[in-house]
Amino acid sequence: MIEQQIKSAIRDIHDFPKPGIIFKDITPILKDPVLCDAISTAFLDKIKDMQIDAVAGIESRGFLFGLTMATKLGVPFIPVRKAGKLPYSVNQKIYELEYGTATIEIHTDAFEPGNRILIHDDLLATGGTVTATSELIKEMGGHVAGFSFVVGLSFLKGLEKISAISDNIVVLAD
Ligand code: PRP
Ligand code: MG
Repeated sequence: MIEQQIKSAIRDIHDFPKPGIIFKDITPILKDPVLCDAISTAFLDKIKDMQIDAVAGIESRGFLFGLTMATKLGVPFIPVRKAGKLPYSVNQKIYELEYGTATIEIHTDAFEPGNRILIHDDLLATGGTVTATSELIKEMGGHVAGFSFVVGLSFLKGLEKISAISDNIVVLAD
């Protein structure tokens, strides 16, 4: 099962980046091309009925499978980046973190109004990042077709938060 393979590959790093946090390190997955291919195939199978016009991947780990999926689907990839990284004109969204705020940006010409966009990230924690991404995409005239994640941390209530935005949520492992 893909879920078991993902869980076995992910490594927990205690106290990274701060004391008390257990970081889910996905880099062992990236060392295994057979598993990477199986992950992409599993995603494609689960999103095939979502009528996706583009895949938005969130910096930085959402770029990994986000671009692979977009390429395999034959649709554009939209990089969603942290503030100040995208070179062309941008639309931005500022959102609340536990302490302080963060900003994400998308190029103004990244997609066409009315496009159905899949939002992809490696990991769903509180859901704050993908919720802000959804809001920005909607403000730019896009439609959120669904979400996909390699891992979902179910104890953090992210799923509850984003199910108000779309019913189409793919989580390969939790
Ligand atoms: C992590 C993870 C998700 C986000 C999930 O990214 O890759 O993008 O946090 O958190 P949330 O659901 O609470 O919003 P991080 O900010 O560590 O950056 P990185 O992907 O660039 O490593
Ligand atoms: Mg991230």
